[in-house]
Amino acid sequence: MKRVLIATGGGDCPGLNAVIRAIVHRASQEKDWEVLGSIQAFNGILWEPTEVVVLDNEKVKGIHFQGGTIIETTNKGGPFAWPVKNKKGEWEYVDRSEEMIRKLQIMHVDAVINIGGDGSQRISEALYRKGLNIIGVPKTIDNDLSSTDSTFGFQTAVEVATEAVDKLVTTAASHNRVFVLEVMGREAGWIAMNAAVAGGADVCLIPEMPYDIEAVKDALEKRFVHDRGFAVVVIAEGAYPKGGKMVVQENDEIGYENPKLGGISGVLINQLKKAGFQHDMRQTVLGHLQRGGVPIAYDRVLSAQFGVKAFEMVLNEEYGKMVAYRHPDFIAVPLKDAIAKPNLVTPDNALVKTVKGLGISLGQKE
Ligand code: F6P
Repeated sequence: MKRVLIATGGGDCPGLNAVIRAIVHRASQEKDWEVLGSIQAFNGILWEPTEVVVLDNEKVKGIHFQGGTIIETTNKGGPFAWPVKNKKGEWEYVDRSEEMIRKLQIMHVDAVINIGGDGSQRISEALYRKGLNIIGVPKTIDNDLSSTDSTFGFQTAVEVATEAVDKLVTTAASHNRVFVLEVMGREAGWIAMNAAVAGGADVCLIPEMPYDIEAVKDALEKRFVHDRGFAVVVIAEGAYPKGGKMVVQENDEIGYENPKLGGISGVLINQLKKAGFQHDMRQTVLGHLQRGGVPIAYDRVLSAQFGVKAFEMVLNEEYGKMVAYRHPDFIAVPLKDAIAKPNLVTPDNALVKTVKGLGISLGQKE
């Protein structure tokens, strides 16, 4: 019997369960493969005793439309930075990667499929360099992984954000107000731009194009005639003004490495007030609503395609690679290329041109 182990790492994402189910279904068509799931990314292997579950067709029945991940996840620590308290009672980080690889050998694990975003795929690549047979599957609502046309979970997040714009438009219009909707995406403006186009927002502010507050104010004022009017601004959590920096919240969670973004919508409202903008303004921070709940059909299909391809890569021993969607195909790309640079919005991107063509302000001076 051969064994493949699945881990889901980083923030949860709609479609994770659909990938797990697809791997299990495809593996069950081979006589000699067993699928295991490590609980909470690689923690399940690193814990004593280990926490691993057998995943078979029965276990994954009907999970393709469930949000979250049945094998749990974490975006703290990991095999290369395992938090331990030293004698002084302070936290320090130890590298347990080799110990983990040894443990996987003892468990007779032949291959690992790591479903995760850029942080998780960095771990995959480093484990591959240490000799582990590992394959990556690109997950993130932020869509910031390069080498693939898209990551699963992203379109579901866009759907949630668009629904929020739709709802805010009606309340904004009723009250002659400006609504500022803050969406996720880390350093990438993909969720914001897609929701702004789909929802018909007036202003869209993204991290890749620091905004000019006067340009934002002008765009909003154009939406009012003698105090009557309304507007919706979609702002990415990583957006910031020209000459300023991203709004980062304090976070004392042990092993949490990424800057915790959030709060720019409130900052923007204060800046607009200071700049003399006089209409009523309200803010909505959409937060984790973008990540929880059922994946839309598009993401279920994409997840299924990623999962089947990932297991076929195991069969072909295409290790050190990540599944990538290159329309209309699913291909294997080296993990090192997938993590080389993030997928961010560039000024020449077709969607930027569409945004401009629709007259949505990106907060830039003309
Ligand atoms: O990377 C996915 C993401 O949802 C980002 O868009 C967001 O900044 C971050 O994770 C939030 O992480 P957490 O769940 O730790 O608050």
